[in-house]
Amino acid sequence: MSLVAQILDGNRVRDQIKGECRPRAEAFFRHAGRQPGLAVVLVGENPASQVYVRNKTKTAGETGIYSETITPDPTVTTEELLHLVHSLNAREEIDGILVQLPLPPHIDSQKILLAVLPEKDVDGFHPYNMGLLATSRPGLRPCTPAGVIEMLRRNEIPMSGKSAVVIGRSTIVGKPMALLLLEENATVTVCHSKTPNLPQVCRGADILVAAIGRPSMVTADFIRPGAVVIDVGINSITERAEAERIFGPDNLASFEKRGSQLVGDVNPRDMARLASAYTPVPGGVGPLTIAMLMRNTIEAAERRTGLC
Ligand code: GUN
Repeated sequence: MSLVAQILDGNRVRDQIKGECRPRAEAFFRHAGRQPGLAVVLVGENPASQVYVRNKTKTAGETGIYSETITPDPTVTTEELLHLVHSLNAREEIDGILVQLPLPPHIDSQKILLAVLPEKDVDGFHPYNMGLLATSRPGLRPCTPAGVIEMLRRNEIPMSGKSAVVIGRSTIVGKPMALLLLEENATVTVCHSKTPNLPQVCRGADILVAAIGRPSMVTADFIRPGAVVIDVGINSITERAEAERIFGPDNLASFEKRGSQLVGDVNPRDMARLASAYTPVPGGVGPLTIAMLMRNTIEAAERRTGLC
């Protein structure tokens, strides 16, 4: 493509969504006499999870949401964590419960996620909420794929009648992403590690969504010139040779400075050269997840108190 690609700016869309959340939280306060409430449960010392959780509670404060972070001892058992979730389910002033993943390996994550009351499941991970999504009923939607739809809508990128290819079938991103695109009347293909001729299938996409978790796996041969490319991956690379392969020998200043660099699932140079519009990493899909969590928390609060 000779045209300059449109960069889909996640920070701008995040600010718009946050800007819409604040007056809704204030209206809720006038209606209910309290702020919408979010409880975040963080077990263990995963540094990435600690950063995410800090950002979630900070953003909650900025949007008029009450939040608390609960950090049980890392040796907590599944039974004890279930007890904690049940106690949060029972608290009237808590509208949203988020259990930060991954949980330590000795915890039965499925059991914990199943225990969260669906009406408080602001992650949208509960099978009940997944079922609502699959059957086109209103409900709490998983934040990252819902953020991608907002990004496309607010940039006036048409989805109806378009061919969309999602790479990755995770419960958190790939599967709900496919269902949400279907809801927008796209023709959706879901690819995964067993898909034959992956580049060829991806080249059929008007909208290509990469949610694999492998740095720069999607290269030029996957991208139809003029496609819209959404890169959900956030990977940190620490090998110089890998950085050089991905960014090229003349673009290593940032890597040299820090000794590591964030990279998505799509090769950034190929994406910028071939796509008509794309989400950069960082600053694309990443900022939207937390904004959508705020929106889900307010929506949960409104539903629980009969405001919507
Ligand atoms: N870990 C990484 N992403 C997420 C997310 O969206 N929600 C939760 N609960 N944990 C995560």
